[in-house]
Amino acid sequence: MPIKKIVILFSGTGTNLENLIKKLHQKAFDGFKIEVVHAITNNPEAKGIEKAKRLNIKTTIIDHKKFNAREDFDKEVVTLIKSLNVDLTILAGFMRILTPIFTENIKAINIHPSLLPLFKGANAIEKSYLSNMKIAGVTIHKVSSGVDEGEIIDQECFYKNENISIDDFEKKIHQIEYTLFPKAVIKVLSSS
Ligand code: GRF
Repeated sequence: MPIKKIVILFSGTGTNLENLIKKLHQKAFDGFKIEVVHAITNNPEAKGIEKAKRLNIKTTIIDHKKFNAREDFDKEVVTLIKSLNVDLTILAGFMRILTPIFTENIKAINIHPSLLPLFKGANAIEKSYLSNMKIAGVTIHKVSSGVDEGEIIDQECFYKNENISIDDFEKKIHQIEYTLFPKAVIKVLSSS
């Protein structure tokens, strides 16, 4: 069975990283098997490092603070990704603004905790919670040069109960992320 290889980039807690590995790594889908060949983080303190290790996924730390220019960091990340020969790069809570050095060379998808094009950028969960909208949700999209602006691959929304606390709201967002993201990865790999 053909193998489709992916690499996962993360910056923090890594719950999406962990979920993707558990649901996709070495599993067979419609006509192909997925292999998470590597994980990459920009943050030496990221909790996700331990999670990847426990699941036997090799992780490389490329600390962005060691680079003077954003482009130099991106170059190093792109060189590593190219050397892995992956079919797709997954940004799972990777909190870096990417330059064209990355976006023009790497085929990647990203998860964003709002219904794009609303609430782009940082603190999307809080912005979506505080808005007067009656619905909220999660988006998976292609990575392009504009932050959170690439073509939308999939979205899921829920009704925002008026009395919901920020903690429960955040939990609901993550719960959706854990089903939507693996589904979207399979969808993109199926058509590539
Ligand atoms: C997720 O909510 C994701 O949508 C956002 O950053 C968060 C990452 O969480 N981009 P985790 O590190 O996967 O736990």
